[in-house]
Amino acid sequence: MIVRPLEPRDVDAVVARVKERLSDDARRNPLLSSDFSEEHFSRALTDAMDQTWVLDDAGRVMGHLYGALLESTEYGNGVWIGPDGVSFEDTDQLAALYATAGTAWIEKGALEQYAWVFDDPSDTTPWYELGFARMHVRGVLSLSEERPHRLPPGYSLRRGGPDDPELALVIDGVLDEAQRQGPSFAISFEHTSRAAELLEALEDDEVHYYVVEHSGVGVAQCLTFPLESRRGSFDHTLHVSAVAVTPEHEHRGVALALIDHALNDAFAAGFRFVETNWRVTNRRASNFWVRYGFRPTYVRLHRTIGSG
Ligand SMILES: CC(C)(COP(=O)(O)OP(=O)(O)OC[C@H]1O[C@@H](n2cnc3c(N)ncnc32)[C@H](O)[C@@H]1OP(=O)(O)O)[C@@H](O)C(=O)NCCC(=O)NCCS
Repeated sequence: MIVRPLEPRDVDAVVARVKERLSDDARRNPLLSSDFSEEHFSRALTDAMDQTWVLDDAGRVMGHLYGALLESTEYGNGVWIGPDGVSFEDTDQLAALYATAGTAWIEKGALEQYAWVFDDPSDTTPWYELGFARMHVRGVLSLSEERPHRLPPGYSLRRGGPDDPELALVIDGVLDEAQRQGPSFAISFEHTSRAAELLEALEDDEVHYYVVEHSGVGVAQCLTFPLESRRGSFDHTLHVSAVAVTPEHEHRGVALALIDHALNDAFAAGFRFVETNWRVTNRRASNFWVRYGFRPTYVRLHRTIGSG
């Protein structure tokens, strides 16, 4: 078996492998969509010919690997492997593909390496064997009814917007602080881009910004927006992010009521699924979302080259 760059004659075989993998994911987890356009994917592969590797066994394609190179202040100089970016039959095949592709990525400075993988030990273990670790979980919830929780007495909720930048930044600091504490210890990357992204979000018509107030002061918030189409996600999916409750107001059901309110708005507006991400080491967040009803679909695995 050899690892070599993708060639035009391999495209159909890779498309078939990816289609099969994504339908298998959707069979195993009904919160994943198997939506897949062979035509679009085949075009994308053709465009990424020189960044895709295949495992060739006497002329038969046994696997493939593609990673998108991306530099970001939050995630570093990295490479991103999506659920459609890889196929293989066993750990040694993944190891062979990764050894070759990884060399090219490292030469380009992409030392932060990320892969979205179906969250089941049979799918994640080969990556763990290659030094990857769990970072963020993508959780999905199907919306089918009104949700009942109301805020405790003394609290009220309003839609915020572009006039609330200071408040949004202050409450967002709660989230930042929670992630900096152990066991997350998320202190390595710059967080300056978050503020800019948050302020941009407040200006965006598609984003809903919800604020919970107590005695006229904002004490909790979240953002929701329609999810752009992405592999494994259904149409009409809402994304929830930036959920934070200031420490003095935790454990009173504020987040529960806030998310119920946002999801009831979304349900009335025609959304049928909701997604969010949480850092696996943020235990409160993980427990909160799972107890709320979100179920893991893909997990973002991460490896930093040179750290171990
Ligand atoms: C995670 C977080 C949003 C939860 O907010 P919260 O308002 O405390 O959550 P809720 O009160 O609605 O529900 C969570 C807890 O309160 C309990 N609870 C819910 N309703 C309650 C009520 N009426 N009375 C008493 N307790 C209640 C729940 O059982 C749960 O118990 P736990 O604290 O032992 O886990 C909050 O801790 C937070 O902002 N953390 C830091 C930022 C962060 O990590 N955000 C998530 C990013 S993905």
